[in-house]
Amino acid sequence: MTYTITTQPGDHQFSCEEGETLLDAALRQGLFMPYGCRSGSCGACKAKVLSGTFRYPEPKLNGLNRIDANSGDILLCQAEPCSDMQITAREIERAEDVEVKKLPCRVAGLRKLSHDVMQLLLSLPAYERMQFLPGQYLVFLLNDGRRRAFSIANAPDNDELLELHIRYVRDGDFTHHVFHDLKERDILRIEGPLGNFYLRHQLALPILFVAGGTGFAPIKAMIEQAILEKIQRPMTLYWGVQAKRDLYQLDLIESWIAKSSNFRFIPVLSNPEPEDNWQGRTGFVHEAVLQDIAQIAEYEVYASGPPVMVASAQEQFTEKGLPVEQFFSDPFDFAYDRPKRTRKAM
Ligand SMILES: Cc1cc2nc3c(=O)[nH]c(=O)nc-3n(C[C@H](O)[C@H](O)[C@H](O)COP(=O)(O)OP(=O)(O)OC[C@H]3O[C@@H](n4cnc5c(N)ncnc54)[C@H](O)[C@@H]3O)c2cc1C
Ligand code: FES
Repeated sequence: MTYTITTQPGDHQFSCEEGETLLDAALRQGLFMPYGCRSGSCGACKAKVLSGTFRYPEPKLNGLNRIDANSGDILLCQAEPCSDMQITAREIERAEDVEVKKLPCRVAGLRKLSHDVMQLLLSLPAYERMQFLPGQYLVFLLNDGRRRAFSIANAPDNDELLELHIRYVRDGDFTHHVFHDLKERDILRIEGPLGNFYLRHQLALPILFVAGGTGFAPIKAMIEQAILEKIQRPMTLYWGVQAKRDLYQLDLIESWIAKSSNFRFIPVLSNPEPEDNWQGRTGFVHEAVLQDIAQIAEYEVYASGPPVMVASAQEQFTEKGLPVEQFFSDPFDFAYDRPKRTRKAM
């Protein structure tokens, strides 16, 4: 059975399957409502029921002490509809509306995605979640006060673990630690979510994603969300790397192509190796975009990765007529907290 849930203000509708919580269904369809623990404890997902019926599969929830259930308050992260419903709920539309938290986290997984990119999975304490918009980033808070920024690579629908793609930086303190010392169950401290790089829905133009290297990470989160939301806008991912060995998660990209007929993928190698036998596109990724697309002004562009790539894309796309308000970016600037002589404890 599928129920229709209408939210006020805004008159937005989403569908909720039997046995699915209202929050899970809303997030799955791109309606970002505030939440904290996602486990019925904190009360942050409070909304009000205007009509319809619901049930709590686990009725003894701590969070119920934090709301006034007699006046129609409901915990969206636990309530499952038993009919169509109308609710009053706040929606998060801008990054400023998301709570920024400092949290300890545990390393839940470390896996090489390519020769120099590590997938790092982080789990948060029980009863804690870090709500974020797909495309945002977090920072690691190091013991000596330094901070290291990394984009969250998964969609928030599935936020039990936070996925990061960490590229090894030669002489890089933190990335060296990740590749050589960090192990499962280690504890780190993070702050987030941060940044204004997330998918906009107002213009509803065709989308061009332009990634350089691990700039793929925030764009992966956005594409996963767009596919969940069944966005019908044409989406093209241009992914620039040096050689074939720098591309990763290609199976996942294949699955996006299979799931979504409006999604296209164009890898661009700037420096292919002879053994790559590369027949595809070569050169700089933003130049490949301009070679293919004459009317760039008709697109919404999301670019992330090395600052020089992002700056060149912005400069050349706007020269060709892209309004600057249709260009969203996340340049991977690195921290200017050197010099340092010895490798410091993390
Ligand atoms: C918003 C944001 C999101 C980011 N997301 C990601 C991400 O998802 N994945 C990812 O791999 N990186 C990402 N970065 C870049 C990442 O933060 C840096 O690579 C990282 O901080 C390096 O830390 P480190 O301690 O290893 O290097 P440091 O010890 O700080 O630096 C060592 C040396 O390398 C240089 N350097 C540092 N970082 C880079 C770099 N990225 N490119 C070139 N030279 C560098 C420094 O100038 C220095 O000379 C992001 C950056 C920002 C600002
Ligand atoms: S998110 Fe904490 S009670 Fe629902």
